[in-house]
Amino acid sequence: MIMRALIISLLSVGTIAASPAIAAEPIQPIEAAKPKNENMVELGKMLFFDPRLSKSGFISCNSCHNLSMGGSDNLPSSIGHKWHQGPINSPTVLNSSMNLAQFWDGRAKDLKDQAGGPIANPGEMAFSHELAVGVLQSIPQYRARFKEVFGSDKIDIGMVTDAIAAFEETLVTPGSRFDKWLKGDKTAINQTELEGYKLFKETGCTGCHNGAAVGGASFQKMGVLEPFETQSKAEGRFAVTGKEEDRMFFKVPTLRNVELTYPYFHDGSAATLADAVNTMGRIQLGRNFTKDENAKIVAFLKTLTGKQPELTLPILPPSTKDTPRPHPFD
Ligand code: HEC
Ligand code: HEC
Repeated sequence: MIMRALIISLLSVGTIAASPAIAAEPIQPIEAAKPKNENMVELGKMLFFDPRLSKSGFISCNSCHNLSMGGSDNLPSSIGHKWHQGPINSPTVLNSSMNLAQFWDGRAKDLKDQAGGPIANPGEMAFSHELAVGVLQSIPQYRARFKEVFGSDKIDIGMVTDAIAAFEETLVTPGSRFDKWLKGDKTAINQTELEGYKLFKETGCTGCHNGAAVGGASFQKMGVLEPFETQSKAEGRFAVTGKEEDRMFFKVPTLRNVELTYPYFHDGSAATLADAVNTMGRIQLGRNFTKDENAKIVAFLKTLTGKQPELTLPILPPSTKDTPRPHPFD
């Protein structure tokens, strides 16, 4: 009970917004991205889709963060190089620029810091930064693009990760029905969805899932009132800080577009939103939702699906005789 009061009191931590009515809500609307450098964004998009940044020449960022599927892969855990079974569920890249840090355990401080990780991860793209840069350097059209954006065609990994991060910053999803409601269109959500939102607030979900991303702003214990049963070895924030009190603390995931990013939790163990909501109610808040309450909360969560980024598929420049060959099978 004390824990619940504590969680709910966290709710009131300040959010600033245009109108007082919006400011009083624990969830804020998402604003459209304002790209600072269009050329850099376009280059980042090419890199995000280019499988030649992987050893196999087959896996791109988009393989596991599929922008046709809510920026995730819809698998319990990802498939990496040579069909390697990944240890953890892939979070969406949509709205990830709003996270306080990147990864479930927050081990990367921002998107740039994150973007170098998968390229060199043996279980993901299994390449090295030198080889990835070598591939790009061997392709004249890439050299020209880097020169245009960074003023130099001597490509380095910092430029690669800057460009990818600039692209990812554009992957925001404003315009959801819930945001329309927040901004004053009272017909944008129906009565069931509104009752779901009330339950979401009143039972304490917003203690952790709040702000514009409806999450992403803190690390919280998975299993506050009851331990989370899992086969996964992930220990959460403990892996970063080594502090016992951080064991099983994970970054609170965004619930924006959550309808599209199944399965749920870091181990991908909840196949449906109804499952995830039941587990959350029970282990985080000590609540057993009725079928009706669960359905209302699920209906509310589906109003958080925003306008998906509209992309023109980048056409990638061909490899040259100097481009290192792909190694899909070793
Ligand atoms: C083989 C699948 C795979 C590939 C390829 C991959 N990722 Fe990921 N990505 C993951 C998984 C799994 C995680 C979560 C890892 C963790 O938290 O320990 C993740 C986490 C992230 C996050 C953090 C999101 C958050 O909310 O914490 C971002 C951003 C991201 N990836 C971007 C990229 C980019 C950019 C690339 C290409 C350079 C890429 N990923 C390639 C599977 C992949
Ligand atoms: C004490 C903080 C806290 C509270 C309260 C809380 N959550 Fe969560 N929620 C989390 C954390 C942390 C995760 C990620 C857990 C993991 O996978 O290890 C999460 C995950 C989720 C997910 C899965 C998202 C995904 O992409 O995997 C959903 C859905 C969700 N919560 C909904 C709710 C609902 C609905 C409530 C209220 C009934 C609620 N949460 C209450 C912290 C909280």
